Amino acid sequence: MEILKRIGILTGGGDCPGLNAVIRSIAKPAMNYFNSKVIGILDGFEGLVEGRMRELSPLDVTGIINVGGTILGTSNKGNPFQYPVGGPGSVRIIDASEQALENYRNWQLDVLIAIGGDGTMHISHKFGQMGMNIIGVPKTIDNDLDATDITFGHDSARLVATEAIDRLQTTASSHHRVMVVETMGRYAGWIALGAGVAGGADVILIPEIPFKWDKIYDSVLKRSKGAKFSIICVAEGAKPADGEIVVKEMDGKRTDPVRLGGIGELVGKKISDETGLETRVTVLGHVQRGGNPTPYDRILGTRFGAIALQSASHGEFDVMVSLQRREVVTVPIADAIGKLRLVPPDSQLIMAARSVGTSFGD
Ligand code: F6P
Repeated sequence: MEILKRIGILTGGGDCPGLNAVIRSIAKPAMNYFNSKVIGILDGFEGLVEGRMRELSPLDVTGIINVGGTILGTSNKGNPFQYPVGGPGSVRIIDASEQALENYRNWQLDVLIAIGGDGTMHISHKFGQMGMNIIGVPKTIDNDLDATDITFGHDSARLVATEAIDRLQTTASSHHRVMVVETMGRYAGWIALGAGVAGGADVILIPEIPFKWDKIYDSVLKRSKGAKFSIICVAEGAKPADGEIVVKEMDGKRTDPVRLGGIGELVGKKISDETGLETRVTVLGHVQRGGNPTPYDRILGTRFGAIALQSASHGEFDVMVSLQRREVVTVPIADAIGKLRLVPPDSQLIMAARSVGTSFGD
């Protein structure tokens, strides 16, 4: 057993529902059973570089399991290995990893538990190699992390997107319109696929299956003669077979400089121009990341936190907790990074969706 006198926790990257459930399930047993001090590092790796932290009290982690976001704050701009410094117009990128390591040592942390997505796991592994005792906990609404069956946050985002489709359907039906709904998900189509299937979308467009414009026009024209409305669920990373992914902006300060967005508007305009059908576009955006976690995400977050703490107490570092066939286990962080978990185009769910008439635009 490791003696865990001081446990650091940070949340990195984009937030998602369920982060507080993890923080709670690490902090409560750490305080109650190990008598450890729990140090909350503020705003992700930014706080580790800049020396911003506060010790959490039992009250800080009470009544938070149902609360979305993160009580610690987060940032997707604080990669210590490529750290942006300077103001607008004069941004320089420096390596601030030694500074971060120094803070970790000065705070006398026995372990740092980093809750985050792909970017956070990359950074965590590098710190692990530099001698930091680090454990990763995978979160992201995108569900795109390899080496875990699912990340917490995804179920909550999928619920929001499904509810949105349910609402769009009634108004689409009343006005005999085509409704396009754009979901998040970066380069993976899990949110669009899950919500699209659950919401009964007529067309689902995901990055893993490049689409053809004509196929979409055929689907909505056919529907316009029968049901008289169509729902198209498009992932922000979807792209036409003969075109490119739509990028909203590039921001060099971010861990991932590419901000996706805009494919929904493009799909809506093309349908309206080419078929003459009245079309409206809804971009769900950050609504998918906000609000209360679902019971699934609260439970998975609680399980992840408990196993992360257990691994720390066994002195097992540079690992990430992971759900594998219903059991939470640990895997080397090295195995969890560098490969995105994408939707297999021949998966059972895609086949099932096709069998009820859903088009993937291919
Ligand atoms: O990775 C989570 C995510 O919500 C993606 O789905 C989306 O592309 C991105 O973050 C948005 O990032 P930001 O919050 O910086 O706009």
